[in-house]
Amino acid sequence: MQFLGKVIPSPLTLASGILGISFSSLQRVIRDGAGMVTTKSLSLEPRIGHEGPIIAEFEGGLVNSVGLTNPGIDDGLLEVEKFHNEFAGVSIVSVFGANSEEFVNLARAVNHSKGDFLELNLSCPNVEDEFKRPFALVPEKITEIVTAVKAVSNKPVLAKLSPNANDITLMAMLAEQAGADGLTMINTLGHGMVIDAIARRPVLRNNFGGISGPCIKPLALKLIRDAYKQVKIPILGTGGVSNGLDAVEMMMAGASAVAIGSAVYERGLDVFKITRMEMEAFMSEHGYEDYTDLIGILEEN
Ligand SMILES: Cc1cc2nc3c(=O)[nH]c(=O)nc-3n(C[C@H](O)[C@H](O)[C@H](O)COP(=O)(O)O)c2cc1C
Repeated sequence: MQFLGKVIPSPLTLASGILGISFSSLQRVIRDGAGMVTTKSLSLEPRIGHEGPIIAEFEGGLVNSVGLTNPGIDDGLLEVEKFHNEFAGVSIVSVFGANSEEFVNLARAVNHSKGDFLELNLSCPNVEDEFKRPFALVPEKITEIVTAVKAVSNKPVLAKLSPNANDITLMAMLAEQAGADGLTMINTLGHGMVIDAIARRPVLRNNFGGISGPCIKPLALKLIRDAYKQVKIPILGTGGVSNGLDAVEMMMAGASAVAIGSAVYERGLDVFKITRMEMEAFMSEHGYEDYTDLIGILEEN
């Protein structure tokens, strides 16, 4: 199958922020049957991020407040180069800027790399104290940043949207109108809080964080479906996918590929291999020949 013109062996993708950026773990994910890998979001300068604990588990998934820890775009792209030098795999370089100028500079840096696609993280909920409201909640910001990046980028551009937007379909349409080649949706939900009752404290040092994992899957499916009906560009679906059936459902809702994040914590790196086998078993049992046969085929009541 193909995603934005690149041939990929499966629609499964590593979501941003899950395995950092080390080229060896990115390669392992592809060897295990994923089609694409997304780097941790990279900023112009290195960022230490928030103090730990930065991840808290609960019965429905995870709450995280990593705070965009990353080694900066220059070091991050060195790992992307190593990934591509020794390996055939498709990479999505995720970037995070404080304003459209920074996003443009990040896009220029990625232009010179072997990275295949550029993902704009417009939707991180964990750094509001520093950067104010996530751009994905502000219609004019989506238009401004995507337009500015598209004017300089020589890579296909994915805009990553937030489930916290009042009207995510409007955001999807604005990103498409501004020239985005695809959408990634959804980023983490909320903020949420996990409490340690004995300690009488929130588990996260930052008190709250973005919610991910199985509990956000129904929301992701609905929002992907809504966007799919309104835009023509492909959607990289993400949010609560833990197994093959989840991935099938997300493609039926309208995703052209499916990224897995929190389930890597729960099921380990083997999640890609197992999920791919589960998808293929479903497809052969129900008469689907190709992954692409699944995209958007949901019949609504
Ligand atoms: C620990 C952690 C770190 C994350 N870091 C990033 C990040 O740097 N950039 C980004 O765009 N999304 C980040 N995300 C969001 C995921 O890429 C994904 O959109 C979200 O978790 C929903 O998918 P999931 O339910 O499969 O985890 C992070 C998620 C988690 C759990």
